[in-house]
Order: sequence, then C-alpha cells, then structure tokens
Amino acid sequence: MNKNELLHAAEVAARRAGDILRSGFGSVITHTSKEGIHNLVTEYDLRCEDTIISFLREATPNASFLAEESGLSSSDNELTWIIDPLDGTVNFAHGIPIFCVSIAAAIGGVPICGVVHQPLLNETFTAISGEGATLNGISLHVSKTSQLKESILVTGFPYNVNENPLNCIDQFNKMISMGLPIRRLGSAALDLAYIAAGRFDGYWEASLHAWDMAAGALLVQEAGGMVSHYGGREYHIGYDSIVATNGLIHNELVDTLLIVDA
Ligand code: IPD
Ligand code: CA
Ligand code: CA
Repeated sequence: MNKNELLHAAEVAARRAGDILRSGFGSVITHTSKEGIHNLVTEYDLRCEDTIISFLREATPNASFLAEESGLSSSDNELTWIIDPLDGTVNFAHGIPIFCVSIAAAIGGVPICGVVHQPLLNETFTAISGEGATLNGISLHVSKTSQLKESILVTGFPYNVNENPLNCIDQFNKMISMGLPIRRLGSAALDLAYIAAGRFDGYWEASLHAWDMAAGALLVQEAGGMVSHYGGREYHIGYDSIVATNGLIHNELVDTLLIVDA
C-alpha cells in the first residue's frame, strides 16, 4: 500500500471508531482505572481499539500494532500502526465533548501518515509526510503569530501529576504569570491538531506516549509548524516530552520552558 492508501485505511478505521464513540457519548459510562485513579479505561476505549485493529489487520496483514490498550503486537514488520482509540477518555467518561481517535502509520519508527478524528464535530485532520495536512479535505496551515507574548497556548498534565517530577506545574506557573492565555483540553492529539489548524500557537506536555503524539505531531509538521522535545531536542516518537508550535515562536517557547530538563 502507498501512503495515500494507508491514510485512507486509517481514516475509515478512525470513522468507524468515531461512530462508536458518538453513539456512546452522553450515556452512563462505566470505567475502571489503570495506573492511578484518574487514568480511566471505558468499554469504549476497548471496543474502539478492537474495531480499529480488526479493520487495519485485514487491510494490512503484514503490519505491527502499537495500541494504547493492547500494547505492542510485535515489532517484526516494517509498518507499524500507532493507535490511541480514544484520546480524552476522562472527558468522554464525564460527558465533556472534547475527545478524538488518533491513528498513525510509521515505518522504521517514523510516521508517514496520520489521522485525528473528532467525531462529534465531524472534524477529520489528516497528514501525509512530505505532502501536507488537511482538515476535512481542506489544506491546513499553522498560525502566523510571531511572538510568545501574543500567543495562545495549550498544555496538559500527567495523570500522576502529584508525584511526577515532569508535571508541567512550574512551567504552567511561569507561563500564566506572563499573562499568556493557556488552555487545557485533556486530549493531546487534539491539542496537536489544533496547533496544525492555527487555533493554538504553542503546546507543550511531558509524560506522553507514542500513541498520544504520533499522528498529531505529523499534522503539525505538515501544516508548516515545528515539533521538538524539551530543550529543542529533535523530535522522535519514542521520547515522552513535546513542544509543538507554529515554528515562529518555537525557540522562544523552548527557552521559556527551560525550568526543567526532561
Ligand atoms: C491523555 C490525554 C491528556 C494528556 C494525558 C494523556 P488518554 O490520553 O491525551 O490530554 O494530558 O497525558 O494520557 O488517556 O485520554 O488517552
Ligand atoms: Ca491518549
Ligand atoms: Ca486513550
């Protein structure tokens, strides 16, 4: 399959999962916790992941899978699907309409296409490496804000925020003390998609996983933005911190965030 065909398969899978989420949204959602009481898993995380993997396994029998709820299937294959079946589980479980499905295809650990699908708004963000990013088929571009002091930012905090040294609290305090507007949506993949769409100018977070970032980071890069780790280190999906911007404010944001060394 070429990149376009892989993206098409990812979009079909994401929409199928999105339909499941839309049908369940607002009902009473039962959940259990994993690794801390606020890190929830619902039946919808599991159903969506099964649906996505079944579809993609049929479409690409020689692919490996790295998916949030089932882990790494094997690493024997060149192509790996990186899947977050429901990003924003806490929002979903509490009836807050901010969540999405995130799927990327990677070869040798490098994402080549990705989709972030927000089923309630029917917004489908897609990217193909070297070919740009789109929202519902329309070309996407990052914002043109050139200074941090004029920027609107978004961030997130890990589930174990009270004990994790990479908790973003000091950085958040520093940014908010500068008078900057900062949002916390609760969905890393949407945070990144919104950078790609020019809705936010900058985003940072730590303690993420490959499935939170793989598709969204490609969206940012293909929409003309920049992605790095803390300290400006070159982005790689195996690392857990991320700074994503429109490119113009990247160095300024990276430097301002340098209170912790992650
Ligand atoms: C979480 C969300 C959240 C981020 C957490 C993630 P989940 O993913 O992306 O915004 O702050 O670190 O784990 O658990 O909803 O898939
Ligand atoms: Ca996630
Ligand atoms: Ca998830």
